Amino acid sequence: MRHLLDTRTLSRADAIRILDVAEDMADTQSREVKKLPTLRGKTVVNLFFEDSTRTRISFEAAAKRLSADVINFSAKGSSVSKGESLQDTAQTLQAMAADAVVIRHGASGAPHTLATSGWISAGVVNAGDGTHEHPTQALLDAFTMRRRLHGAASRGRDLDGVRVAIVGDVLHSRVARSNVWLLATLGAHVTLVAPPTLLPQDLSAWPVDVSYDLDETLAAGQDAVMMLRIQLERMNASFFPSEREYSRRWGLGRERFERLTGGTIVMHPGPMNRGLEISPAAADSGRSTVLEQVANGVSVRMAALYLLLSGERGTDQTMNEEGR
Ligand code: NCD
Repeated sequence: MRHLLDTRTLSRADAIRILDVAEDMADTQSREVKKLPTLRGKTVVNLFFEDSTRTRISFEAAAKRLSADVINFSAKGSSVSKGESLQDTAQTLQAMAADAVVIRHGASGAPHTLATSGWISAGVVNAGDGTHEHPTQALLDAFTMRRRLHGAASRGRDLDGVRVAIVGDVLHSRVARSNVWLLATLGAHVTLVAPPTLLPQDLSAWPVDVSYDLDETLAAGQDAVMMLRIQLERMNASFFPSEREYSRRWGLGRERFERLTGGTIVMHPGPMNRGLEISPAAADSGRSTVLEQVANGVSVRMAALYLLLSGERGTDQTMNEEGR
């Protein structure tokens, strides 16, 4: 495995391999001493051009628990044009002999550019690029679903037949995109639920069903309901009449939440807009996996960094087709 850039080109076998290694990592995380010597001497650079709390500290915790050295590089606010600044930064990291670069960037495709430009020899992990992809988030979501639904017998398994509703601001969401591709690869059935203004115009290539009625979709029975954050910072126009109206029709308010039956779990990648897309009643309930998702994120990122950095470098193995 050379890079982890997207889930769209991630094979089923590679996805399950990452999830299984993450199970092994999770086992070590319940020990009193959580640190493993696996990546001693390796340097991981967290290169964040966009704000982030949980993703950055999650990668930092993951790298440190594998004994790698971590350099946090927050490049937010750089005034240099995007291409130039990325190249200059990449060449600096190359000179510092980074073994892996975890990059979050506002421009879709920036991690791919970094991985294929020849500027660096490090492995590249996409930690969110524009509205394109956020592969480790989808992997930690799949890990969380697999554990909740298959329990102790989850190793080696996919999500065949699992029903997932992804609700809300799909248009601006890289989390939704990465989830759609990965869930399809793992055999799950995905329904997108959103107002038409918050869905991409052409969904013909997406392996999903689309619904404009959240109550109907929930009544049909879902194993997981993934609420997306309304990304106000990416909106330069009005995509819905009012927050009140949005929350009434598309939010998981208390009443709607209380109508859920069976073992339906409620997911959210964070940060949550409480009271807008999700109510505290839902977010803080026993159905909610919000904090499990955060905890599982560390195990999944440990697995990704391990697979990227242990041995196999130079053999041109990659998790994504681009590098092949
Ligand atoms: C997501 C992101 O940044 O894409 N958050 C995250 O990684 N924890 C989703 C979001 O910002 O809504």
